[in-house]
Order: sequence, then C-alpha cells, then structure tokens
Amino acid sequence: MKKYAIIPILLLMIKYTSGQLPLNFGSTNWDYSYKQPVGGICTPPSDSPSGTSWTSPNYVKPAGEWTFATQTLPIGYATSSSNIYGGLAIASILPYGSDAANKPTTAYLRQTITLTTNPRSSYSSFTLKLKADDGARIYFNGTQVANHNLPSGSINPNTSASVVGTDISDYTFVIPNTFALHPSDPNKITITAEVHQSTASLIDNCTTLSSDMFFDMELTGTLGSMTPAITRGPYLQLPHPTGIQVRWRTNTPLVGRVCFGTSSGSLTTCVNDLNTVPSNDHIVSLTGLIPYTTYFYSAQHTTGTLVESSVNHKFRTPVTGTDFYDANKTTRIWVTGDASEEIPPGSKTPRQDEVLNGFKTYQAANPGSKDLDLWLLLGDNAYVNGTDSEYSTGFFDPYDDMNTAFPGVTNNHIMKQTPIMPCVGNHDYYAGGPIPGLSSSSPIETLNQLPSSSFTVVNSGGSANSNFRINKNNPFFDIFSLPSNGFASKYSTSTGASKKGYYSYNHNNIHFVCLDSYGFYDDYLIYGGLPTYPSTATANPQMSWLINDLANNTQKWTIMYWHHAPYTRGGGHFSDQTVGDEFILKGIREKLIEYLDAANYKIDLVLNGHSHSYERSRLLKGHHSDESTFTGSVHNNNAAANANHNGKFTSAALECPYIKNTSSATNEGIVYVVTGSAGQLQKTNTPTTGIGPNIGHLALNGATFSSSPAPGITSRGTIQEEKGGSFYIEVTDNRLDAKFIEETTGAVTDKFTIFKDVNPAAVTVRNIMPGLDSDPSNILLNAGLHFGDFVSLSGPTISGTQGFGSGLFGYITNVVTPQIGPLYTISDATGCLTEKVRFHFTPDCWPLSTGVTINNLFDSPVIEHIRSAGTVTAKNTVMPNTKVIFEAVKSINLEFQPPAPSVNLFEVKNKTGANQYFIARPISSCP
Ligand SMILES: [Fe+2]
Repeated sequence: MKKYAIIPILLLMIKYTSGQLPLNFGSTNWDYSYKQPVGGICTPPSDSPSGTSWTSPNYVKPAGEWTFATQTLPIGYATSSSNIYGGLAIASILPYGSDAANKPTTAYLRQTITLTTNPRSSYSSFTLKLKADDGARIYFNGTQVANHNLPSGSINPNTSASVVGTDISDYTFVIPNTFALHPSDPNKITITAEVHQSTASLIDNCTTLSSDMFFDMELTGTLGSMTPAITRGPYLQLPHPTGIQVRWRTNTPLVGRVCFGTSSGSLTTCVNDLNTVPSNDHIVSLTGLIPYTTYFYSAQHTTGTLVESSVNHKFRTPVTGTDFYDANKTTRIWVTGDASEEIPPGSKTPRQDEVLNGFKTYQAANPGSKDLDLWLLLGDNAYVNGTDSEYSTGFFDPYDDMNTAFPGVTNNHIMKQTPIMPCVGNHDYYAGGPIPGLSSSSPIETLNQLPSSSFTVVNSGGSANSNFRINKNNPFFDIFSLPSNGFASKYSTSTGASKKGYYSYNHNNIHFVCLDSYGFYDDYLIYGGLPTYPSTATANPQMSWLINDLANNTQKWTIMYWHHAPYTRGGGHFSDQTVGDEFILKGIREKLIEYLDAANYKIDLVLNGHSHSYERSRLLKGHHSDESTFTGSVHNNNAAANANHNGKFTSAALECPYIKNTSSATNEGIVYVVTGSAGQLQKTNTPTTGIGPNIGHLALNGATFSSSPAPGITSRGTIQEEKGGSFYIEVTDNRLDAKFIEETTGAVTDKFTIFKDVNPAAVTVRNIMPGLDSDPSNILLNAGLHFGDFVSLSGPTISGTQGFGSGLFGYITNVVTPQIGPLYTISDATGCLTEKVRFHFTPDCWPLSTGVTINNLFDSPVIEHIRSAGTVTAKNTVMPNTKVIFEAVKSINLEFQPPAPSVNLFEVKNKTGANQYFIARPISSCP
C-alpha cells in the first residue's frame, strides 16, 4: 500500500447495531470451527460454496463444520481446571474431544460487524489489539490485516506458530482503511481469524499436546477524513490505435475519472469510470483517440480532490500493421518472466529490484529504450499464488516508480507509460499453495498430477482439482484486461469458463500471440486434441482459435509468448521430464511446436518463462523429441537464413544475424527464448522433479555465458542462471534486435538480430538522374539495406569503406565517381549483409544548356542513352558489349580515356550489327 494521508481527528470505539457488542476484549457472537485430525491430517474449513474461502464475506458456513455460533472471547483452553490463562479467564472453552493429546493445532473464528455510528469511509484506520497463544492471523473482508507469530506467505492447518507463546501481551496492529469492501454493505466488516499452536507442541503433523490456547482481540477506529489516494497503478491496458484503458485502485470507494489531452497542461477531455458505483478498483476506457499520438492523462475522483497527474503520466497510441503501419517507427518491447520473487507481503526482493535497476541502467545508456511501447509478462507474475495481495506487494508496488513505500526506486515510469500485455502462469493459478475453493491444502500442481501419457485430453485430474484452471476465478483475470475482438471488449469481464487467457493483437508491423499454457479450455490443456497438420479440426478452443489466428496473420513479424517453455534445461525445469506437471513442457514441444513447424506460420520469436534462468536457441526447427536427439546440422540447418549462427551480428565466425524471407515457402525456423529470471532465479535442481543438472538445453545453443556452473556440474555454457535479468526487443521495419539485460549492471550479455528480406539476389539499379545528380561523378547512394553501422562499397574502380551519414534505415554513402554499368557490392562492416547495385543514366534529357560531362566507364549491357540540352562530353571508356547513345542539342564531344579499345570503338551504327557501338547524333531539343 502507499500514499496515505492520515489525518486523525478522533479516536473512539466503534459502535455497532443493536444486538452487537462493541468489539472490546471479551466480545461475543463469534463463530468457531475446527476439525478433529484424521490420521494426523488437518484441513481448513471447507470452501462454501465451492470456491469461496472461509475468510470471504460471501462464505456460507456449511453444516457440521462450524459450531457454538455465539462464542465469547477469550476463547481457548488451559491446563488448569479453572481455565485461567495468564491470569485471564477463558470465556469459551474450545472442545477438542476426549483425547487431550490429540487436539487440532488450528482454530478458526468468524464474525461480521456493521459500523453504524460512522460509515466505514469516515475512518482513516483501525487499531487492532491482539492477545494470542501462540500465533494468529486476522483478515478483514478476506484481506489479511494482521499476522502475529506466524510465518509470512501461505499457511495451512499444519503450519505451526513461529515460537512458543508465553504471554498475553497486547500486540497492536494499525490497519489502514484500505482492506476489501464487504460485497453487500460498505459498512460491514467480516472479521476472520485463525489461531495456531507452535511447533514445540506439534505431534503427528497437526495434532497437539499443547496445554494452552488463547485468543482475544479489541478493535477501535480512528476517525478522519481519509484522503483518497491511489494504492495501485495507474496502469495501462488494451492499447489500440484509437483507444486505451486506464486502471487503478484507490484506498477508499469512489467513482473514478480519467482526464486527458495532448498537452500535459491541458487535460480537457474526461471519461468516467465504467463502474458508476463507488468502488476501490477503477477501469476507464478512452476511445476516439488519434493513432500514434502522445496523450497525457490523470487519474481522478469524479467529485473529490483526488488527482494524480504529472508530465510522466502519458501514453502513446500505437500504429498497427493493418491500418497505420509506419516503417519509420521503432517498436520497443520490455519482457519480464517470473518477475516476482517469493516474498513476504509488504516486502520487496533484491533481485526483482536489481533486474529493474539493471534495465533502468540500460535505459540511461540507451535513451531510446525509455520510449517503450509494450510490456509483456510471461506468467508467474506474482508469487506464490497470484493472489490479489501478492500482485500488490509482488508486482504493482515494486514496479510503481511513484510508490512512496519504495522511495529508492525510480524506474523511468514504465508502469505509468507502458501498456501491460500479460500471460498467465501456473503460480497465477494458485500453483504454490492451498487453493481457495478446495478443502485440501495441496497446491494445484500437486493435485493436478496428470498421467504423462495424457497428451490428448488432459483434464483427467478431475474438475475439482482443476477448479481455477477451468473457471479462471483467480485474480489474474480480474487484475488485467485481456483483449478480444479488436479490443472492443475484454475477456476477463466474461464469467466462468468463458474467460480466456489467450489472445492476439497487432502493434505496428508485429503480430503478438499470448497463450495460456496452464488453464483448461473445454477440458483441454494447451495442446490437447491438437490435430496432425494440415488438419485444423480440433475441439480444443484455444488451439482452434490459434490455428485460425495464425493462418490469417499478415504482419511482417510474429512474436508468440506463453509461460511453459518447450525447450529448457535449467532454472528448475527440464523439458524432457514427465514428472508432475513437467510433462506440459514436453507436450508443448511434441504437439504444439511440431504443429507450428509443419504449418510454417512464419513465427519469428517464442518467449517463455517458467524456468528461472535465461537460455535461447539459434534458428531452430524440426526438433520435437527429447534433448538427446538434437543435432545442430539438422535442426539449425537453413544456410540462407544463417540458422547455425548465433545471431549476435558481429564479424566473428558464425555470428551473422538471422536472415528470413517473408515469401519463403519453407520453414525458416524460430528463435526460442527462455527468460524467467526477472525476479526468480534458480540454480539448483528441483528435488521433486529430479530434473538433473541445470546445464542448459542442447537446442538452446544461441547464447553463451561464462558463469560458473552449479557445483559438480560441467556447464555447457549455454545458460545464465547466476544472474537474473529482463528481455528487451526493438523492431524497426525489417529488423528485429533482442537483448538480455542483466540485473544491476544493465549489461547486455546476450543479443541477436533478425532481418527480413535483405541480401537480395536481384541487382538494385540506381538511376543517375538529370537535375538531381547534376554531377554524376559524385552522388549520394541510399544503400537501402536497412542496417546500420558502416558499409563498404566494392566494384571495378571503387573499393573500401566509404563515408556514411545516418538515416533511419539504410545509410547514405557518398559514392565518388560512380561508374555506369559495373556491378558494385555494398556490404556492412560484418560482411553478413550485402546488396548489389548498378548505376545507369536515366534515358532522358539532361536539361543543362551548358552541357554535362560524363566520367564513366561504359561497360553495361544496358543501353545507356544520354541526351543533353547543351553539350555532352564523355571522357571515359566504352567496354565491349556496351551500347551508348549520345544526343545533344549543341555538340557531342567524345574524349575517351584511356585510349579507346582497338575494336570498332568509334564505329557509328544503327541498332544492328556490331556488338559494341555508340551513337552520337545531334538533337534539336529535349522533350
Ligand atoms: Fe512457472
């Protein structure tokens, strides 16, 4: 949370509706639940209805699980028969059956209070005083607000308190009035608490011999006109040439509004919240914008004083390949995979911070990279379970440069200015811990172990186990607006299984495709039921959509991204494994990649996370079996495309860029990038999956690192698992540059470049134009190669490095004394890129009354036709097989240098006869 302005006015006790007591110590009306251990296993209260946690205000207490519905605090038990603990009488004795040595370790409490004297919005904060033995965690309306003597992160009934409680001191928590609203009444607070015993008393997993347990609490409120403030964002969604969406969260319910304009000082157009009922979360869609235009915006309160605005609150509408393609525009893309480290709520991890700092350092050295167009998330964006609070603490807070909770972080306003286009990962589906909606405390990955042979229909784990992977009720789908149907709506407003975590969009000349590699769609996992190419008939909604989407893609570039990597050996995963959910990696490679390769959808780049490392391939195709079958000469085998090069674009051997041809009928290959270390980093094996050494995948042989390998492992040097980082892409017209940017230093420790449609076989004819090239002995040549750096020009009389100007695309080289006819070869400094050029005179009149002097070698098989309104003077050599026609109004002076060849040089003929000739004749005028 952030940016509070708390103005205490009056401290008072909260008053309640009649029949309820003030929440002093010793309050009444508490519900209580516990479950007697069964075989040493304890479970939390069952979700009721399915998918609704016992902490939720919407929870409906199932019969038989909640007892003694009007309990009075303190609640617990003690050794003495008088039930005195710490000198305090226990009002409600917890029953634990007949076996005092087999008590449950965890008890659950609930009560809903209603604030009547003053509405909740009039409070700036609440103060909770807690007495607990041993540990307790408190939630208000489902939001965790206090945690005493328990570990952070996910806990379950078997979680023991951190230390043995020895006193009944008051532990005080000041709770900002920012926790979730009660869904039925903004003035209601559903208070839930779980009380845990310590390890010292644990036996048999979850039963306890503990002699005492104690819980009591008091709640007071601080009145104050709480200043509305933004606690999340604003962040940008659904970028479109004529529209965008602005989202943010406030600390108090209100109706939001966005005002915007093309000048930071004049935000004259305002649009109100889609939701007209005051709420904490705000979604404002801006429409009717001008493509490729920078707008400034503010996030506001429709009636109040909240206004967040600055010169840094701005976005630029995109161009698209369909309607507004701009070959001059460089599209800049930042990519983060597995961005959030496993962190306690409210804290921030060094690596996530350092990866951000590393990119910031890169941006400082490369200012153009501050002008980001898109920010792609590769999934597992908030650890451990992708809960809303984890998204706050593990994603939005760390990346928000205006977050006062982390004043040391400035990140060039990435979140304020760059639309986020996210993919969902397994952790976003509650992969790391207890799943809301299930009685088991096992994570979804454990529950949904599917047979490794289930490569067709893979929801064999059962609908209960796959709950969130089917209904998509996990917070990811509420936090992000995912595009559909030209961005006219968003999938996440759909309900139930109709929510979709896959989508595509165009940005300038790039087609982006995001897939959901963990959710089920009509019971199909990502590749389930995929037909053998060329069939397109599949009952898998995601795949039938994908096949149709790629078949209709006409953009020059295609970038696909999803969470689970088809090729990886490191960062905690090995794509040959079939243990647990690891087979998803294998299944994607053997099914999805095989299909994409066969269909030749001209995909350029595939970006994945999941593995907490960095690896990437060369131009790869046709490798779908296990790693051991990879053979470079087979799978990196397109010589014309430099498939076996590392793409780093240097003059060293095997370091040319990849060269692809948009009209190629054959599959030219894909560069696969695993970049899942923007927050996470994993050098060790995953014990439960036994993946073996993290040594880098043989097929991911494009990058090399000198990092020391894991202990006892001989590194193949193809993986970066020592340092985290993020990924950065620039695309300009027919050139794509991609870089891995390391944490902290911002060093570029891997890079590659892909070109489209360069090194043409055809010769470019460069006309020397009358009037434009008044002195044809010294002209400017636009190489047209669309690559940078120096170029060299070689030909019959000119060679070596020429002068260079800077242009957006190719570079302009000044060619001194261009010769007519000869074939010149222009190449870049690396020698990787070449283009052939021939000069000739445009066969029209040179309108120079004073004449023109031509100093050229005539050796072209093309007929050179030179006319002049004045005099033509030619001072060069006519080689065999040349044909030159000179015409002039005043005179024709032919002074061939060096002396003419001996054969028929001055023979004047018509158009037939000798194979070398020139024609010199007077003309009366030029047209
Ligand atoms: Fe993952």
